[in-house]
Amino acid sequence: MNASIALIPGDGIGPEVVAEARRVLAAVASIHGHDFAFTELLLGGAAIDAVGTPLPPETIAGARACHAVLLGAVGGPRWSDPTAPTRPEDGLLGIRRALGLFANVRPITTHWQLLDASPLRRDLVEDVDIVIYRELTGGIYFGGSTTSDDGSTVTDHMTYSVHEIERIVRLAAQAARDRRGHLTSVDKANVLAVSRLWRRTTDRIMTDEYPDVTHETQLVDAMAMHLLSRPRDFDVIVTGNMFGDILSDEASMLPGSLGLLPSASLGTDGPGLYEPIHGSAPDIAGTGTANPLGMILSAAMALRHSLALPDEAAAVERAVDRVLARGLRTADIAAGSPAVSTEQMGSAVANALT
Ligand code: IPM
Ligand code: MG
Repeated sequence: MNASIALIPGDGIGPEVVAEARRVLAAVASIHGHDFAFTELLLGGAAIDAVGTPLPPETIAGARACHAVLLGAVGGPRWSDPTAPTRPEDGLLGIRRALGLFANVRPITTHWQLLDASPLRRDLVEDVDIVIYRELTGGIYFGGSTTSDDGSTVTDHMTYSVHEIERIVRLAAQAARDRRGHLTSVDKANVLAVSRLWRRTTDRIMTDEYPDVTHETQLVDAMAMHLLSRPRDFDVIVTGNMFGDILSDEASMLPGSLGLLPSASLGTDGPGLYEPIHGSAPDIAGTGTANPLGMILSAAMALRHSLALPDEAAAVERAVDRVLARGLRTADIAAGSPAVSTEQMGSAVANALT
């Protein structure tokens, strides 16, 4: 097939990991006889430096014109002055919103080859297979903020509408139906009015439309504990923007490194955006030590969800499994043994494709 893929390298280790995803996609294209055209777009700190804004209009237009968008990471200390008028992260939130990407899908699976890379006990993390559905274009991230005249009080608003809750819950429930049939909704309904709406809406959708999917509710603080004490009990987790952000970083300790985890951000139409859940890691940027597997597995999700190439997606996931089975480790998962570079890991995955 012919497909156009936008690449947004962004900041920090973003360009290094995106280069490896591109290498793997180019290898997929040549093995399977596809024609992938790549376009590079600016976002985040790199865009602030180049054109003075974190989300240039050309980036939105360029992304819309593609089948899928691959994004590295944005942000870094260079742009984190609290008095600056705009931040790299505004670009990321802006593109999620502009493309209508309300569903952020974050699979958390442990790789048998890496059970000792997790700081948690092997018997706890073995066979973990969870997908977090994080609402991505609402909640406290998008409610706006106000500052009192003298600057001494600042408010961030958390808002959810029934419509916003329904659409993410339906997607998550459908995913649960296609998997092990269990949905966990996470909120803070004992304190927040928004969470009580979230819970009421979720209960109604599940009872009326998904009676075959078992459904439980957890408060976010308890969930933070259950996720580490009994992770195998969870199948699909659905939650709002901020709780999903926090729980997914926590969940990355099950497989052992934030660097391993991919994500897909999906809307009702238009391109999906695929990014690892890690950040720009400015402390290791430019050292060639970043783990590209989260980005490469995000590219696999792009093949599956935006390009309708499930066999090619599975081929990339198998190639990742093979290089891990062969013992290749980047520094984050090496546990003290010799580590390979970002580029060596990316090339090994590309070469392991069949
Ligand atoms: C993520 C990141 C972003 C978020 C930041 C960089 C704005 O942490 O994708 O999880 O909070 O959504
Ligand atoms: Mg995050």
